[in-house]
Amino acid sequence: MGQKKHHSQSGTEEKPGFDTAAIHTGLEYRDETGSVIPPVYMTSTFAYGNPGGFDYTRSGNPNFRNLQSTMAALENARFATVFASGVSAITAVVSTLSSGDVVIAEENIYGCTFRLFDRVFAKFGVRIEYFDFSNGETWDRLKGREAALFWIESPTNPNLKVIDIHRVASLAHDCGAPLLVDNTFASSFLQKPLDLGADLSLLSTTKYTNGHSDALGGVVCSNDESWQEKMIFAQKALGLQPSPMDCWLISRGARTEAIRMERHCANALQLAGYLESEIGLPSVRYPFLPSHPQHEIAVRQMKGGSGIVTVDFGMDAEETRKRLMDLQYFTLAESLGGIESLVCHPATMTHASIPRDRRLAVGITDSLVRFSVGIECIGDLKNDICRAFGFRS
Ligand SMILES: Cc1ncc(COP(=O)(O)O)c(C=O)c1O
Repeated sequence: MGQKKHHSQSGTEEKPGFDTAAIHTGLEYRDETGSVIPPVYMTSTFAYGNPGGFDYTRSGNPNFRNLQSTMAALENARFATVFASGVSAITAVVSTLSSGDVVIAEENIYGCTFRLFDRVFAKFGVRIEYFDFSNGETWDRLKGREAALFWIESPTNPNLKVIDIHRVASLAHDCGAPLLVDNTFASSFLQKPLDLGADLSLLSTTKYTNGHSDALGGVVCSNDESWQEKMIFAQKALGLQPSPMDCWLISRGARTEAIRMERHCANALQLAGYLESEIGLPSVRYPFLPSHPQHEIAVRQMKGGSGIVTVDFGMDAEETRKRLMDLQYFTLAESLGGIESLVCHPATMTHASIPRDRRLAVGITDSLVRFSVGIECIGDLKNDICRAFGFRS
């Protein structure tokens, strides 16, 4: 049972909006049962000669294909390939490089991305050079450089630096390189890297796409057939494929991404504004607060500020962690983007794999705290922070 195509009065095919696409794509393979939601295809292999052309789940499964259709629709992409995790998706892209290739990356990236480049791909001769894309001088320094790939996150993890995707895409293309944007922190609902000129949009679908902290996944989206071929090859040849069950869960999560993101954005904006203006904290970061250094870029390229707020509480690492353990609704845990609020201490958790001096150089201090603001009642979240940190609410 496929989706019916709708046509406008002029006869052209109408593209559904985000919320509609999230609910009405990725529904193939419902057989003749009439099941409204496709089942989980928990099978490792398929009988030879089947109509879907499936052979072995490492190289494809109906649940992968459904999630791939949904992700392509949500990212305005021609193609999407799903992987076992965000880190698997990163591995798939970097596996296409050769010894001697240079990757130009934003200096503030997710700790495990740094670790992969530093501890794994460096051994195979892939060189990575880090730059601060919020510094005007970077642009001049990079003009005319030869590179195999440009790599940024926007907003970045955990500093929430917002990078002008359109501008980096032009620079990358002038250097003869494709641009990859890790869109995990923004989400497909709020930001479309490919529409802004990027060649690849990568997400850890573990986060906002799934939204319920119960599955791991990653995806790479593009408009380029040769990238798609390379990603499908990496999925099967490197064994980076997800499980059908995780794909099914992420497909289910994606159907409510729009309304979840609206609430994440509303809660995070309120919380950030409250901590900055009413509690008077000096170092609250949120892309949609006017005080954010790249606020103007954020409102231009994102539909909302997403659900992450970072605050530097100016305490030492031990005291910071102690206060975080006292929170009731924000669980101290790795990850982000779920309906439930989480809090993370990047210096000892997500970015612990980056050496301390490097971490400090890019602004990840011992007192930096990253809140993943969930969709609970905002009053409860504000009160929780006030109680744990001793602020008068
Ligand atoms: C920006 C970013 N990219 C990639 C990843 C890796 O995703 P996963 O944990 O699904 O492997 C993460 C995980 O936190 C992340 O924050």
